[in-house]
Amino acid sequence: MSAWEKKLRSIEETCAQTVSKTKDLKKLESLRINVLGRKGRLTLLLKSIKDLSLKERRVLGLKANQLKDSLESLIGKKKEELSLSDLQNKLQSSASFDPTLPAYFFRQGHLHPLTQTLDRLTGALTQLGFSWADGPLVETDYYNFEALNIPPDHPARDMQDTFYVSPKSEVLSPKSPGHRTSDIGPRTTYLMRTHTSPVQIRKMESTRPPLRIIAPGKVFRHEAVDATHSAVFHQIEGLAIDHQVSMADLKGTLHLFMQHVFGPQTEIRFRPSYFPFTEPSAEVDVQCHFCHGGGCSVCKKSGWLEMLGAGLVHPHVLKNVGYDPDLWSGFAFGIGVERVAMILFGIQDIRMFYENDLRFLEQF
Ligand code: DAH
Repeated sequence: MSAWEKKLRSIEETCAQTVSKTKDLKKLESLRINVLGRKGRLTLLLKSIKDLSLKERRVLGLKANQLKDSLESLIGKKKEELSLSDLQNKLQSSASFDPTLPAYFFRQGHLHPLTQTLDRLTGALTQLGFSWADGPLVETDYYNFEALNIPPDHPARDMQDTFYVSPKSEVLSPKSPGHRTSDIGPRTTYLMRTHTSPVQIRKMESTRPPLRIIAPGKVFRHEAVDATHSAVFHQIEGLAIDHQVSMADLKGTLHLFMQHVFGPQTEIRFRPSYFPFTEPSAEVDVQCHFCHGGGCSVCKKSGWLEMLGAGLVHPHVLKNVGYDPDLWSGFAFGIGVERVAMILFGIQDIRMFYENDLRFLEQF
């Protein structure tokens, strides 16, 4: 037997003996380091294999590597055994540990009703093939109004009065993401976005059609706050652009969307309306969630609840983002998250969502 082989044997024997005898995790670890560590006996022996003849190398190399594997698993198993019995000893010897005592009560939190509603709405839309898009909360007049076909003196602006932000404000350095260099200038007006519709423009500017996106998020309005109005609330915008998109596509999509949210029997109806950025435009109602169309106090005996604004994207809007309106068409819609949550959960006052009163929140 060569000297090399003897060393291998001796490693094997001492290891087997020590592992079977030891009851100490620390000793086991130092054995592992002494043998298998970077400067361990077996590691060094394996490194010296290059000094052997080719024939010896083949035979002994194989043996040494097998030994390495088997020692690793031997030591690993022993470590598990020792850790377990260590734990058992501790449990038995510690007089203060009584496993029969009831566990501590952990108060478990849950998602805010608005988050639950947002998840339900976006869940339905992502299943219908829409992907998420995002935009800044501080917008320029261009994205919030002008590009959406709402010029400076348009009466539609009156309904969406908001908070204007000084361009000198630090939040609005020209390097802020989402601002084109051409937006930055002495005459650029900044405001808190009044709706999620500007995300339509941003997404179309940066993407080639076809596209299908939703843009959920906060919006801001200079409102007198009461049970149904809040200065900050949430909307989800939807936009689909493709060839020859029609009102039928819009209606089918919104019908499936509303059925997913309010139940498979839910009916919807379209009423003609006006939005500057869609033509034609519609208000979309869903059958009353409370009386199922029979008429009750919530739906003011009409059987319907007003739910969305929608329409086919106005050709001016398509032109503003450089899409050819003869080639491309699309539909858009906007829905208020608070309103849906109030209907789903029967909540009467919008202010409750933001008061963080646990007596309210824990009901949902
Ligand atoms: N942006 C509108 C609002 O806040 C809602 C809306 C209406 C969005 C019609 C749309 C739409 O995309 O087509 O009042």
